[in-house]
Amino acid sequence: MPHSPDGIARRAAPPALRIALVSDRLDWHARELIKALAAAGAHATLLRLEDCRFETGHPHGLHLPGFAEHLPDAVFVRCLSGGSFEAVTVRLGLLHALRESGVPVINDARAIERCVDKSMTSFLLARAGIRNPATWVTEQPAVARRIIEREAANGPLVLKPLFGSQGRNLRLITSPADLPDLNAVAGVYYLQRFAGVERDGGFRDFRLLVWQGNVIAAMMRHAPHWITNVKRGGRPVAVVADHAMHELALRAAAAVGADLAGVDILYDAHDQPTVLEVNSMPAWSGLQTVTNINIASVIASGLRDALASRLVQGVPG
Ligand SMILES: Nc1ncnc2c1ncn2[C@@H]1O[C@H](COP(=O)(O)OP(=O)(O)O)[C@@H](O)[C@H]1O
Ligand SMILES: [Mg+2]
Repeated sequence: MPHSPDGIARRAAPPALRIALVSDRLDWHARELIKALAAAGAHATLLRLEDCRFETGHPHGLHLPGFAEHLPDAVFVRCLSGGSFEAVTVRLGLLHALRESGVPVINDARAIERCVDKSMTSFLLARAGIRNPATWVTEQPAVARRIIEREAANGPLVLKPLFGSQGRNLRLITSPADLPDLNAVAGVYYLQRFAGVERDGGFRDFRLLVWQGNVIAAMMRHAPHWITNVKRGGRPVAVVADHAMHELALRAAAAVGADLAGVDILYDAHDQPTVLEVNSMPAWSGLQTVTNINIASVIASGLRDALASRLVQGVPG
């Protein structure tokens, strides 16, 4: 066997892991992840699910641009773009199909479905005994009005879009007259007990980022308004989250089955941490400004290690 001059046989480097990064655009998050995955020894290819297709005559039944013969080693879902009910169903179907084909998908389509639909998140949190504000979801305006009549006596409710994000289109409801018509809420009223507490003329809540069963970063968000999302002007503040919030965030991520989760938590009027929602495709640009670790690097190396141990265990990929 030919030897190299120093007497050590050279072996070919193992092929880089091929990761499909699902995002509709090459934004800051996508660039951060591509860079971090490269540093972790993985090659990421941006994948727009709208450009993928089912193709039953193909050996693996799918066509993914950039992945001609072989499916990726893993799929990381950074974000899904909006579309018709049919288009979103097909995109989620593609993610389900990849999982069915043995490809690890992070987050899995089931976790994404459970988090995008805020009613399912609330149901799963409550069922797991995780403190979250009381929630009612109905398609019937008369039922929604009755709930408000009964519940508003104990304080305001929050009306949220079922598929909402970034604090858009939330409103406080204090009487049935505040209820918009069904068209304004895409046919579903999601009503939740308002749990905010005003302190020093402002509101605050916490975002904990869970990755592979650990809280990897956390921030407090301060806002003069009760909606604290960074996109709505909430100010990120560095914070060390306490043990109770850690526990809650890990349990919340597990309840929806998410490997990566952005968990929103606030301290309610009883000074108890309560989970407002779980994000299965969390952005982290705000969080990165108040965190020492590089979030993309932690995600990339965790993903690489998980895939490596999968290979060692002989799980078919
Ligand atoms: N039940 C609630 N009580 C008090 N504040 C809330 C409640 N629900 C939401 N908020 C505020 O609105 C923000 C956005 O709500 P959230 O449920 O996280 O939806 P989104 O997906 O839009 O981020 C929260 O971060 C919090 O500041
Ligand atoms: Mg939120």
